[in-house]
Amino acid sequence: MNHIDGNTKILGLIGDPVEHTKSPAIHNLLAEKMGDNVVYVPFHVKAKRLEDAIEGAYALGIEGLNVTVPHKVEVMQYVTELDDAALDIGAVNTLSRTRGGYRGYNTDFSGFMRELDNADIQVNGKNVIMLGAGGASKAVMYALKRLGAKQIHVLNRSVEKAESIFGSTENVTIGGFPDWKKIPDGKYICIQCTSVGLSPDDEACVIEDEEFYDLIESAVDLIYKPRETVFMKKVRAHGGKAYNGLRMLVYQAVSSYEFFMKQEVPEEIIEELYNELDS
Ligand code: ATR
Repeated sequence: MNHIDGNTKILGLIGDPVEHTKSPAIHNLLAEKMGDNVVYVPFHVKAKRLEDAIEGAYALGIEGLNVTVPHKVEVMQYVTELDDAALDIGAVNTLSRTRGGYRGYNTDFSGFMRELDNADIQVNGKNVIMLGAGGASKAVMYALKRLGAKQIHVLNRSVEKAESIFGSTENVTIGGFPDWKKIPDGKYICIQCTSVGLSPDDEACVIEDEEFYDLIESAVDLIYKPRETVFMKKVRAHGGKAYNGLRMLVYQAVSSYEFFMKQEVPEEIIEELYNELDS
C-alpha cells in the first residue's frame, strides 16, 4: 500500500453495492506502478444521497471518482462538464476534478475501443452481432456505430428492453436469442455483453446451438471470470478468435486513471498490470 501523507491524492468509487468491486485493487496497483502518491477507496453511496456525495467529495478535495451501478445515469445531473461520448451514450462512469466541479466521462467506451484495437478487430464496414442489452452494452453500441459497423444485430432475452434502449434503426436490428437463425449467412464480429457464463455459473452459455458459432469470425466476451467462458470455447472450436473482458476492464481502469491524473499511462505499465491481474 502507498505511503499516505499530506500530499496523498484520493480517488474512489461510488456505487451501491461496492463490496465486490475490483477497482480498488486495480487502481492502487496502477498507482504503485506509476509511483504516484494516490489512494483509491470504495464508497458505498445510496441513490438518495448521490448529490450530497458528489458535493462532499468535491469539498473534500477528492481528485476523481468512478461511478458504478445504480448511479451511472443519475450522476450526469451533478457534473459541471460532460465529455461528448458520455453525453451520447447517456452514462458516466468516471468523474475527473476540474475547477468548480467534476467532468464526466465514459471509460467503458474508451476501454472497449482500446480492447478492439489491441485485439486487432476492425469494425469499419463489418457486420456485428451484439448479445445482451445491459448497462455496458450502451457504450459498446456507441463504439460500434462510431467505428462504422455496417449492420448491428442485437439479440437479448428481453426484446422489449433492448428496443427501449436502442430502438430499431436502418442498421440496427433487434431480436431474441432464437432470432440468430434469421441473421444472414456470413462472418460476424460478436460482442457478448450478457452476464450469462459469469462465475460461478461457468457452464452457462447464452446461445447453445453450435451452428450459431459458424457465423463468428472474432468475438469479445465482456466477462473476465472465468478466463475462458463456454461462449469463448465455442467460438474457438468453430475457428474464430475470442477474447475475454479482462483487457477491457484494465483499459477502462487505465482510461479512468488517465482522466483522474491528467497524465498518460505508458504501454509497458498497462501490460504489467494486465499480466499481474491475469495470473
Ligand atoms: P451490465 O451492466 O454488466 O451490462 P446488466 O445491465 O445487468 O449488466 O445486463 C445484463 C445483461 O445480461 C442483460 O442483457 C440481461 O438480459 P435482460 O435485458 O433480458 O435482463 C442479460 N442476462 C442476464 N441474465 C440472463 C439470463 N439468465 N439469460 C439471458 N440473458 C441474461
